[in-house]
Amino acid sequence: MDILKRIMGYVARYKWKAITAISFLVLLISLNLVTPYLTKILVDDVIRGGKRNLLVPILIAVFGCAACRGLLSYFRSYLFEGVSQKCLYDLRNDMYTHLQGLSFSFYDDNRVGELMSRMTGDLEGIRMFIVGGLSVLLENAIYFIGTTIMLLYLNVELALVTLAILPFIAWVAIKFNKTIRPAHSEIREQQANLNTTAQENIAGVRVVRAFAREDYEIEKFEKENRLNQEKNVNASFIWAKYFPLIEFLSGFCAVALIGYGGWMVAIGRITLGTVVAFNGYLWMLIMPVRMLGWIVNIISHAITSGKRVFDILDTGSSIKEKSNPYSSDEFRGDVVFENVSFRYKENPILFNININAPAGKTIGIMGATGSGKTSIINLIGRLYDVTCGRVLVDGVDVRDWKLSALRSQIGIVMQDTFLFSDTIEGNILYGNPDASREDVIRAAKIAEAHDFIMEMPQGYDTIVGERGVGLSGGQKQRIAIARAIVKNPKILIMDDCTSAVDMETEYEIQKALKKIMKGRTTFIIAHRVSSVKDADEIIFLDNGRIVERGKHEELLALRGRYYELYMQQYKDLDEFQSDRQVM
Ligand SMILES: Nc1ncnc2c1ncn2[C@@H]1O[C@H](COP(=O)(O)OP(=O)(O)OP(=O)(O)O)[C@@H](O)[C@H]1O
Ligand SMILES: [Mg+2]
Repeated sequence: MDILKRIMGYVARYKWKAITAISFLVLLISLNLVTPYLTKILVDDVIRGGKRNLLVPILIAVFGCAACRGLLSYFRSYLFEGVSQKCLYDLRNDMYTHLQGLSFSFYDDNRVGELMSRMTGDLEGIRMFIVGGLSVLLENAIYFIGTTIMLLYLNVELALVTLAILPFIAWVAIKFNKTIRPAHSEIREQQANLNTTAQENIAGVRVVRAFAREDYEIEKFEKENRLNQEKNVNASFIWAKYFPLIEFLSGFCAVALIGYGGWMVAIGRITLGTVVAFNGYLWMLIMPVRMLGWIVNIISHAITSGKRVFDILDTGSSIKEKSNPYSSDEFRGDVVFENVSFRYKENPILFNININAPAGKTIGIMGATGSGKTSIINLIGRLYDVTCGRVLVDGVDVRDWKLSALRSQIGIVMQDTFLFSDTIEGNILYGNPDASREDVIRAAKIAEAHDFIMEMPQGYDTIVGERGVGLSGGQKQRIAIARAIVKNPKILIMDDCTSAVDMETEYEIQKALKKIMKGRTTFIIAHRVSSVKDADEIIFLDNGRIVERGKHEELLALRGRYYELYMQQYKDLDEFQSDRQVM
């Protein structure tokens, strides 16, 4: 009920349109209700009573009713469709806006295909309810009430006898609803699964081909597809059982009318016209009763879909802004970690991290894969919240910051590069839509991307595919670096952003970056010592704990983990150099 109420909340935004549509509907039905009564007059007064002069007015009235009905019907459909499309538009926008605000952890837990199916199929389910269900429900309710009143008006006794079966029909419909609802729920879930499978397969098509797992993928899809088919067939069976039963039960009404009505006419208690009109109304009444199953179906669809949509709309972001968040025009870029511990759900990742990065300084972060480097830098822009301790930016806890103000000052090159299907320039501008072409080129030059971009057929206007298809790993990384640079942020975070480029290009990038790193707090995560050796402080992580820290020379003097790594990476080079010196 709550879900329907919420859907109605969207309809209520267009209440005048909806009310007009409903008024048209009421008018339409009233006109329909006139026709059987006209047939009563025709039979009783014209045919049997001999008032021939009434024939033409009755015909005109019947014709007039039909014409008006056509017109009203057109406007009614037009208005209902309009309202439903507007509601769908609002809902879709609300959903999309809400998805923008949800935290990383939400996306860790939800699959893309599943979300896509909620954005499409489930929203359509709700729209169907508004355009179909709601108008059909209203139409049939009005028919039901109107015809019942007319029947009672014509003859109470005959009405009660013919309608005695109705409570049974209602009971069957309610029972049907109970069986069909879970079946629909299952269908929706299964469709989401099917979507996810298809989406993952297409997104991962290169892995599938490379590992020659097409057969496995086809089988996986077939399985989901079969389940989908079975669940739909199952629902159809429930339907198939329901319809004949309703048909059979409504047949009783006709039997009662012919039997009891015929007898009443025979003994002269009612006129023949009454029975004829009764017959007309009865069919009008049976119609809504038959439609009950359909209406129940649409409503149960809407409830299932509505629940899935509103579930997302009700998911609060785990990252919430304070009611009166902090923001400042003067952003310095001091970053401090105070006894920070962090876990993903139950899985502790970082332990008691302390970092002091005054504005303009560079911090290098090293450590084995999985040691928690990315997790640390994710806390600065509050992509996740700390479990214990605090992260301060400019002396203010990031949880007190206005998120947009904080993040607008952070430029981040993520570890796995994501590019949009847009031009190269568009991708770089993503960091700062107001930047000029010159800014884009300058950023691309710093990222050592300019040369290869110029070699592309359309230069900066070359369109790259989804996720940057058409570029090499190193090229993508360099565009991502340019994207972060063009933002001109006070805090620059580079997560292993040169892992895919060769040593020489990396060296060139670092040389260029040094110039722009002045005045910015920079975090460099790297596996190569050469990337971090000039940092003001290097932090060495092991299993979420800082095990060594200091400047390059200090860490070398320590002869610990960093030194070991250094020796591994420089051994060959040193040997080469000492060989040359000997010669
Ligand atoms: N979204 C997540 N949900 C749960 N656990 C996660 C998530 N992301 C990372 N982890 C876990 O947290 C730990 C640290 O991951 P993190 O990405 O910080 O490592 P890293 O030091 O950046 O490694 P790499 O050098 O490979 O990038 C890993 O054990 C990983 O399994
Ligand atoms: Mg990482």
